[in-house]
Order: sequence, then structure tokens, then C-alpha cells
Amino acid sequence: MERTLAPLPYAKDALEPHITGLTVEVHYERHHRGYLKKLLELTRSKPEQDEPLEALIRSASGEVFENAAQVWNHDFFWKSLTPGGSPPGGELLAAIERDFGSLAELERRLVHAADGHFGSGWLWLALDFRHRLRVVTTHDADNPLRQGGAPLLAVDLWEHAYYLDYFNERRHYVENVVQHLLDWDFAAENFRRAPVPFDEAEPAPAEDDPSWQDPPRREPDREETERVYEVPIHSAL
Ligand code: FE2
Repeated sequence: MERTLAPLPYAKDALEPHITGLTVEVHYERHHRGYLKKLLELTRSKPEQDEPLEALIRSASGEVFENAAQVWNHDFFWKSLTPGGSPPGGELLAAIERDFGSLAELERRLVHAADGHFGSGWLWLALDFRHRLRVVTTHDADNPLRQGGAPLLAVDLWEHAYYLDYFNERRHYVENVVQHLLDWDFAAENFRRAPVPFDEAEPAPAEDDPSWQDPPRREPDREETERVYEVPIHSAL
């Protein structure tokens, strides 16, 4: 089985003005394709060559994991976006209101989490093993799949995702993605296909994983600041 690069689900300039065609061109053709090329080199004629990417993400380590995850993460990222965005509804919106109070609050937490993340990585909306919605950031190539989670949406936080358009203004980039580009239809599809929730009566496999712990909460400041939630690195809100 020869892995191939999944096609972009829209034209390269379709996300403008929020993400330019130049950024998508460089991101997709150089970075995304580069991770695939490296993965093919690393796994050629080895048992990992025919393993699904999800299996490599869960079990591989080192460069094979990093490149397999980056191929999967980027494919998921492109699908998480759509020109003009799409609103959530149905069961997913009900879950958002259950776990965050409102869509606006979830959007705010996504931006805060991205803004508080140090260095390269990914912003995720994911279901944990008990089917609670979580806002999570991960470092480098890491992915909630490794912690028993089910990703619903991903936003690339590596500088190559926004630097040509926003320079170092990552918060502005994420605000625009969250407000104008997220494909909630894709999130709803992932929500429906997520694994059955872990039985509350059973011991939780990743309960002690700090990345799934709720951070300490406090009342928001009178004047909303960018650090209201004091987002710990590599943690869930
Ligand atoms: Fe990227």
C-alpha cells in the first residue's frame, strides 16, 4: 500500500481572506507533503509501511510517530475548515451547551487555549473517553487519540500555519479560524462516529493523565483578560 496525500477539500485560495492561498500552498505542498515523504522513507519495506496512520499514532514512537501524526493531523486540519464556516446543530450543539454553556463560551475557550499554548502544536476540540467535550492543546505532533480521546476539530498552531499572513499574531489567526472557518458539519460527523463512551463504572484508562484533567477554575475578571482561564500548557479546559 502506497500512502498518498489526501486532496485538499477546497481550492487553495478558498479560505481567503482569513488564510491566504500562499499560506495554504506552502503549508500543504511543502509541510504536509514533506511529512508524508519523510514517513514513506522511514517505513519503506518495514512492517509499519502498511499500518493505518491511526495505529501508528497510537503505537509508534520517534520519527515514525511524529511524521505519521503530522500527516494525519494536517489531513484532519484541512477537513476542520471550510470556506465561510458552518454552524453546529443537533446533538453536537446540545453537547456543547451541556459542557460549555454556549457555543460562544466554547469559541472563547478555543482562542484562550491556543493563545496560552507555548511553542508548536495543535488545538483540538475532542471527546474524552467519557464523551465529555474538551478543549485541548498538544505539543508538536501529539494527538488526543493517544490519550483515548476522539478528535472533533483541529487547528494547526505551528508558525507555518499563520506566519505569512499574521506574523507572530497567533491569537488573531485562531480568532479568525474559529469565527469564520470551522466546519461544524465535520465536527458533527466525528461526534456521531466517536467510540462508545467508557463505562462510568469501569476504571478509566487515562484518568490520571494530566492532559485530561480539568484545570482550576475561577470567576472571570471584571475586565475580560486574555488569561482568564490560566490555561496550563498541554491541558484541557
Ligand atoms: Fe502545519
